[in-house]
Amino acid sequence: MRKNRGPYLSAAIMAVILASFFSCKGEKTAPKEKTEGLINMDIQKQSFGRLPDGSEVEAYTLTNSHGLKARIMTYGATLTSLEVPDRSGKLADIVLGHDSLDGYIDIAQNPYFGSIVGRYANRIAKGRFTLDGVEYQLTTNNGPNHLHGGVKGFDKVLWKGEPVREKAAVGVKLRYLSRDGEQGYPGNLSATVIYWLTEANELKISYEAETDKPTPVNLTHHSYFNLAGQGEGDILGHELTLNADHFTPVDEGLIPTGEIRPVTGTPWDFTIPKAIGAEIAVVPGGYDHNFVLRDGEGTLRMAARVHEPTSGRVMEIYTIEPGIQFYSGNFLDGTITGKSGKVYRKHYGFCLEPQHFPDSPNNPGFPSTILRPGQKYTSLTIHKFSTK
Ligand code: BGC
Repeated sequence: MRKNRGPYLSAAIMAVILASFFSCKGEKTAPKEKTEGLINMDIQKQSFGRLPDGSEVEAYTLTNSHGLKARIMTYGATLTSLEVPDRSGKLADIVLGHDSLDGYIDIAQNPYFGSIVGRYANRIAKGRFTLDGVEYQLTTNNGPNHLHGGVKGFDKVLWKGEPVREKAAVGVKLRYLSRDGEQGYPGNLSATVIYWLTEANELKISYEAETDKPTPVNLTHHSYFNLAGQGEGDILGHELTLNADHFTPVDEGLIPTGEIRPVTGTPWDFTIPKAIGAEIAVVPGGYDHNFVLRDGEGTLRMAARVHEPTSGRVMEIYTIEPGIQFYSGNFLDGTITGKSGKVYRKHYGFCLEPQHFPDSPNNPGFPSTILRPGQKYTSLTIHKFSTK
């Protein structure tokens, strides 16, 4: 009997196992959806320390229901971490930076990691320009030139933060009033930047500014990305596509010569996907150039796509800006120790900064960067994450 029961028993056991397997599978999907639903979109505010003058820096952690996480602090309106999944769902922080405020306020340790740069992102030759017949002299902080807003740009000031919510996004709104004469710029400029983390796995950055005197304005975001994870080697194997047929060549001080040169047949051709390292050896100093995006300015279109083959992470950048600066982390040289004790060596991160062209105030042929009273400066950039 026992012997005879054997096959029935094992068939029954098998049936139970199979049934529980299938019901488990069913249950797995149902609660998974539930669990995902349970990781609600969220905004958490914490202290990120104090500046030497005693003022408190706040950090806002934004989470979407897929588990993506972005942390933004009010010093420099800086994105301090951005966790996105790889193709197996494993999260990694894909932006370079520091664990604490000390690293960010130490100029030698912070080449604009994750910050908002302004009032004028990128370079203005000799820090000088003429507007409506008046010559202005800005502070210089990059050899003879003005870079990223000068000695104390928007990356080195304290912004006012406030949580914001929409149906399918959580965010932080940051405000800063740049005073007339600050770093040499004319006019009181009130700037607002909102970082949104959306349910569509996007980090969306919107910008607005108004002035009471004509002034150049060019705002951008300056994260150093490594889609394999911050500190996880160089970015030379990342495959880059740029929606740009032209770029603006530069002189030895990285000031555009004024020429708009086709990329065809040059190492600057990223119109079809190419590893960042494929031709970098023949680019003196590495990539640090403004690319002229197709379709002019004002329309939201894809500017760049980056794919990291090992993790499968993909980042697409959409913007309404006319250009994008592609910087391959050439000046990282191992002297910066960042998050989790990671040492940032040459090419350990890349920047893709949607913007107007460098030195536009001195290049009448470039799209204008002048904002006048009564006008509103607006800009929008979307970083969309997926895997392949
Ligand atoms: C510029 C680089 C500069 C870097 C600052 C980039 O936006 O293109 O030339 O060195 O910012 O770390």
